[in-house]
Amino acid sequence: MLGLPKITTFALLGLSLGTQFAFSQALSEDAAKGLEIMKGRTGQCVLCHQIPNNPSPMGNLGPSLQGVAKRMDAATLRARLADERSINPQTIMPPYFSTRNLSEVDPLLEGKTILSREEFESVMTYLLQLN
Ligand code: HEC
Repeated sequence: MLGLPKITTFALLGLSLGTQFAFSQALSEDAAKGLEIMKGRTGQCVLCHQIPNNPSPMGNLGPSLQGVAKRMDAATLRARLADERSINPQTIMPPYFSTRNLSEVDPLLEGKTILSREEFESVMTYLLQLN
């Protein structure tokens, strides 16, 4: 009788550790960083895109990014992430690595890109895994 709750606790602990382990195994450290940027305030990609590995609610102003690396090559993905306006001048997607033709920029952010080079590369690493 006394042993039963303990076994249950261990089984549940094992289950949750197992899930976390499987998840961290699936994404490299850099890809996981990219995912965090995409979900968080820096990228805010989930405002407009559905992405895998994210249980929170997401918007659908843009297409789902599931399988996006199958639909286009790495160079196209880079170009689109850097500045979607180069492909569609009317897009509502922010240019994440460009300072060209921006309007009403906060003076504190003048000359800066939305993503740093390192952040850009982490997001690219995550996107390239969506295949
Ligand atoms: C304000 C909405 C918005 C945000 C925020 C946004 N996007 Fe987009 N994105 C779009 C729209 C709309 C499209 C469709 C193409 C277009 O508008 O030219 C798109 C297209 C794309 C595409 C091409 C997908 C395809 O299948 O054609 C990729 C890749 C992409 N976005 C990645 C991102 C990433 C990564 C982020 C965050 C760093 C992001 N987007 C943030 C709106 C957004």
